[in-house]
Amino acid sequence: LKVGVIMGGVSSEYEVSLNTGREMLKHLDRNKYEAVPVVITERGQLIDQVKGLDFALLALHGAYGEDGTVQGTLETLGIPYSGSGVLSSSLCMDKHLSKTILRSKGILTPDWLCWDSMDDYAPEAVERLGYPVMVKPNSGGSSIGMSKVNNVQELRRAVEKAFAEDRSILIEGFTEGQEITCPILGGDLLPVIGIRSLGADWFDYSAKYVQGGADERVIQLSLGTHERVRTAALACYKALKCSVYARVDMLLQNGVPYVLEVNTLPGMTETSLLPRSALVAGYTFSSLLDAIIAGSLQ
Ligand code: DAL
Ligand code: MG
Repeated sequence: LKVGVIMGGVSSEYEVSLNTGREMLKHLDRNKYEAVPVVITERGQLIDQVKGLDFALLALHGAYGEDGTVQGTLETLGIPYSGSGVLSSSLCMDKHLSKTILRSKGILTPDWLCWDSMDDYAPEAVERLGYPVMVKPNSGGSSIGMSKVNNVQELRRAVEKAFAEDRSILIEGFTEGQEITCPILGGDLLPVIGIRSLGADWFDYSAKYVQGGADERVIQLSLGTHERVRTAALACYKALKCSVYARVDMLLQNGVPYVLEVNTLPGMTETSLLPRSALVAGYTFSSLLDAIIAGSLQ
């Protein structure tokens, strides 16, 4: 099977994507696949570069890759690809829309505001949400353009920073609790990982990607909490029409999970969480890729 590892892209997560792609190339079993790196640096390059592939293994994150556009192009070209389809990818990339759907299904997610331009800037509405708040690009990833805002004085700068990354932004109530992430593969939950940022006071870019930036390990939850987390994670996966694999990020407050977002192409870098969880479940990186490819070809 000729597998192209599609990486790079045009989003702010370009570097993260190259690292995901590099790990995938390193671990693809050469007895099973002919692996071809496909590095995208501009829109429009994809079509020329995927010709002749039997399968596209997506190592893209963020816009033009995780948001359904590349998936749509590959559908049009008739090339099978890894992970979720067009609609699910677009939905999960849009935090406002995905949170709206989750809430409609009774899944808990922190309160939020969505602003489409500086015309929407309304500090009094944020006051009602209560400080601190997280300000983030609506369709961002890897915490790029994101800030924790402790008071109204810090608000405008954070809002402008987020708008520099995206056309819409989210102001989300800060939920005290333990940050956890819930990888899903083959329709069920993999071991839950608990995250404790070291140095930073929330899980920002460097906590995510610098070795030693965070203490991330599989955690043992009480039976009741684990069941609530599993139910919420699988309900998100279903509500947002995900396929093959995903990673649901949550905050756990007194045993109650609040969903932050669902990632349809979760990071697979050396420091990423899904491969670490899968390892505990008995998957090597190579067998994890096998499972993703086989699941996507079904
Ligand atoms: N957006 C990054 C890649 C993640 O969720 O892992
Ligand atoms: Mg994300």
